[in-house]
Amino acid sequence: MITPLSGVASVSGALLVTLALVVHGSLATEYQRERSLRLPNETYPLFYQLHISSDIHKGTLLFSGNATIDVAIRRSTNEIVMHAKNLSDIQITVHRLTDGGSQIVDDLTHTLYPAAAYLIIHPRENEDHLVFEEGQQYRLEILYTATMTLRPAGLYYMDYTDEKSNRTSYIAATQSEPTYARLIFPCYDEPGFKANVSIIITHGSSHSAISNMPVKEILSHGELKTTFFQTTPPVSTYLVAFVISNFESISETYRGVTQSVYSPAMYKEKGQSAIKNAVRTVAAFEDYFGVSYPLPKLDHVALKKNYGAAMENWGLITYKDLNLLHIGGPDARFPLWDKVTQNHEIAHQWFGNLVSPEWWTYTWMNEGFATYFSYVITDLLYPDGKVMDAFIAFEADSAYSYNSFFDVRPMSHYVEGDKDIMAVFDIISYKRAACVIKMFHNAFRQKLFVRGISHFLEKYHYSVANELNLFDALQAEVLEDEYLSHKNWATRIRDIMLSWTHSEWLPIVMVTRNYENNSITFTQRSVHSKDELWWIPLNFATSQSPSFEDTQADIFMPPQSQYSIGLEYLDIQLSGKDWIIVNKQATGFYLVHYDNDNLMAIARQLQTNHSVIHRLNRASIFRDLKPLIEHNEVEQVELVFEMLKYLEFEEDPMIWSEVGDSIECLTRNLFGTSSQNLFNEFVRRLVSPIFRRIYVEHTVNISLDTSLGILQMACTADLPECLEYTRGVAKEYIINKNNFSTESEFYATADTLLCMGARYLSDRDFHRVIDMLQEADRESVYYDDLIYGLRCTQSHRHLLYYLEVLLGENSTHLILTEPDNMMYLLYIYKSNLASRPVIWQYIERNYKVFCLSPNFLEHFKQLAGFVPRHQRSQFVRLRQNIANYMKLEGLNPDQKLIESDSPLVGKKVKMSESFQDKFEQQIHNWLLGEIPQSTSRSDALLAASLSASNGSSRNEGILKEATRVLRSALQIVDMYR
Ligand SMILES: *[C@@H]1O[C@H](CO)[C@@H](O)[C@H](O)[C@H]1NC(C)=O
Ligand SMILES: *[C@@H]1O[C@H](CO)[C@@H](O)[C@H](O)[C@H]1NC(C)=O
Ligand SMILES: *[C@@H]1O[C@H](CO)[C@@H](O)[C@H](O)[C@H]1NC(C)=O
Repeated sequence: MITPLSGVASVSGALLVTLALVVHGSLATEYQRERSLRLPNETYPLFYQLHISSDIHKGTLLFSGNATIDVAIRRSTNEIVMHAKNLSDIQITVHRLTDGGSQIVDDLTHTLYPAAAYLIIHPRENEDHLVFEEGQQYRLEILYTATMTLRPAGLYYMDYTDEKSNRTSYIAATQSEPTYARLIFPCYDEPGFKANVSIIITHGSSHSAISNMPVKEILSHGELKTTFFQTTPPVSTYLVAFVISNFESISETYRGVTQSVYSPAMYKEKGQSAIKNAVRTVAAFEDYFGVSYPLPKLDHVALKKNYGAAMENWGLITYKDLNLLHIGGPDARFPLWDKVTQNHEIAHQWFGNLVSPEWWTYTWMNEGFATYFSYVITDLLYPDGKVMDAFIAFEADSAYSYNSFFDVRPMSHYVEGDKDIMAVFDIISYKRAACVIKMFHNAFRQKLFVRGISHFLEKYHYSVANELNLFDALQAEVLEDEYLSHKNWATRIRDIMLSWTHSEWLPIVMVTRNYENNSITFTQRSVHSKDELWWIPLNFATSQSPSFEDTQADIFMPPQSQYSIGLEYLDIQLSGKDWIIVNKQATGFYLVHYDNDNLMAIARQLQTNHSVIHRLNRASIFRDLKPLIEHNEVEQVELVFEMLKYLEFEEDPMIWSEVGDSIECLTRNLFGTSSQNLFNEFVRRLVSPIFRRIYVEHTVNISLDTSLGILQMACTADLPECLEYTRGVAKEYIINKNNFSTESEFYATADTLLCMGARYLSDRDFHRVIDMLQEADRESVYYDDLIYGLRCTQSHRHLLYYLEVLLGENSTHLILTEPDNMMYLLYIYKSNLASRPVIWQYIERNYKVFCLSPNFLEHFKQLAGFVPRHQRSQFVRLRQNIANYMKLEGLNPDQKLIESDSPLVGKKVKMSESFQDKFEQQIHNWLLGEIPQSTSRSDALLAASLSASNGSSRNEGILKEATRVLRSALQIVDMYR
């Protein structure tokens, strides 16, 4: 039975404030003056004893608390301020602790200050002296009640229904980070106020309680039990946790630390893999940093509901159950994903729990270290798992793609309010910081960096730190090093690191060789025009010394825009024809561009023997070129093609996933030009071997994302094997209704396969599919799949027909009743380049109908962004027709039709157009020289159709085969089980 007490908590909170205002008049008003969102520091907590009583076993959501808090007074004051939120029935008794015992302090009361969630304890009347005296200690006994919610914030509940007995059980768990501890108990809810915490929980005897520390004692009294836990070391409130549940557990003890996995009884055995990994990982972290795990135990709890994937509470990590128990098999993203997730939380036991950030400004010191070292340690433990490749795919790539930073801010960034604190748990604290930490891990010669971190952890253990404390620990280590201490930057570690933690964007390092006087000039600029400069660690590999192994910094480029240095100073030999590559294994978090001659030398090396250049540098060459291609900043476009040319022999999936965006961008830019066919032929030549290895020979095992990316690249370039393959898959699904896997993660798979399979359909097949669409159950996934799949047809005739079926006057499809059918049109327009002329034609014919749609003008404006310059006059005519018609009919008088001379018109295709102006001729000439006189092999295949394989049993199960191929990447996980 659930006993909802909705409203009680918040209402009584508000009541208390009002009461205080009424009774204590001016005094209370004084406590409502505007206050800082940061706690004052005249007082601080030494010790909490928290006793929670809950009947959650009966489904009762109300719980009561007794928080006994020992507080020290740093400077005399008339108020003790801490946090409390949504706590009711608060009763406070204050004792002054004296040598012999304690003595009640009378005439105190409290006021709530909701704007900052403060609980303020102060004298009832104005006093002429400050009641809380410097150097004294007080014991506050705070009794209160509160209500659990379903939302994972504070103490929350979950219900589980047992399928056999049809009985529902209730459990409760906590989420304190970042500012939710105050929902559980009154506390100094800032990470800087660490204190010892002793937890006691009274709960139903059918349930048990676990918390940060091991159980000290359990007392039974009737239907209830009281569980007493050992006292924690000093801990920040955001890490306080407990769980009251009827879960069962499995345990293993190693080096004196007992680790357990808790889960609902039916899943108990599924925790085996997680516990094995956890035991290995804790030991690996202890060895790697030389700092022992400080608590006697570490629990891992699989919850139905968790704030995110997992939460690192000290000694008690909570997880969303799927992430801990492998229910539903390995993750499609990457087979070791669950281990990386678990190891991230284990890393926090040191980074965040043992040493906590002084304030949320340094959230990156928690999340960046946990992110990076979770991969490093997982890689150590599972060396065949390609874990560091996954780091690049899932962390670095998004940190690099600066376009995706919506809110750019420096890593160290001061925030105050709850919402702003939540907001620093972002791509910058996790991914950018992880990349910066990886850079210095390598630049400062891994072992030295790790020693610095170990000393940092030892020095600040059970305490808090800021970034300077960290940098100074590294500084001390660098100065002790025989080799690095002689470098001219050796005393500047603070400056070096601050240039990264206080900058917003990413540097591009331009490497220009001076072929006459044997020197190199480095210039740096921000990827955005912002004035920012960095200390940038550089190292080099050359054709004469092609060793990519040593990743420590050879030099640091100082924070100036230009820096020249002689080759002899760098101790490298380079002749005119040799190449130099900067940033070995791409451990540095910046982009590198080269002068044209050096770029050409690199391209030649790739073409003669690409394996000489480290795979991570091959990948980064394309990552670094990408923004140049996307922004038309390439100097000699032929060089890009010379780089791409070798890909025919590239077997490494990582490089393919880095080059995908650039090829897509070139495809877009060359669409409709005289180079389009030649370019497609070029791409077919490049991608055909890798496509064959994945989809025909099955000799490469790669991630789903990468294999789909390659499939898309191949089919977009009309590679016959790819078209045939996807057509076969599409046929299986559409005609034979052989289902795809229904797992949601395969959604993208289905969409890509169907889209590519629908590019070229014979008239007969096209109409057959339309018939299937007409008959399909409008509520089914199948129906949606057909609609989405057909959008990709390359035939203008078919597209026009398809649009008529979906949006025409006689259409019976749901999509018509939506006011936003124009939005779907926009989606087709964006995702299928071939659809663009057709869609304009369709709007010209049907604008009178579209004009009735309330959002038409907004969508029309968006489409206008894509008007190519050669269609400008048609656009102006169409716009005029629409304007006239709307005026005539008096439609949409409040909305504004985009002006024909608006700068928005054609804005979205400007980049492509200027690309064509600048490069199309050169590309055309290059491709003519490269591609032997084009055969029409592909055209013949394009004419093939679904019916080509009609009725034959050869293709039976091709869909299963497709799913099998795509899943094969996931199966390596079994090797580690
Ligand atoms: C207390 O806060 C004041 C003002 O916010 C600050 O100047 C001072 O350094 C703080 N003292 C301590 C011990 O944190
Ligand atoms: C609250 O806890 C303190 C410390 O254990 C204890 O002395 C006190 O009696 C408790 N108060 C109530 C009302 O249970
Ligand atoms: C399970 O219990 C619920 C509510 O108690 C009831 O509505 C439902 O019919 C039961 N289901 C079964 C399979 O017994």
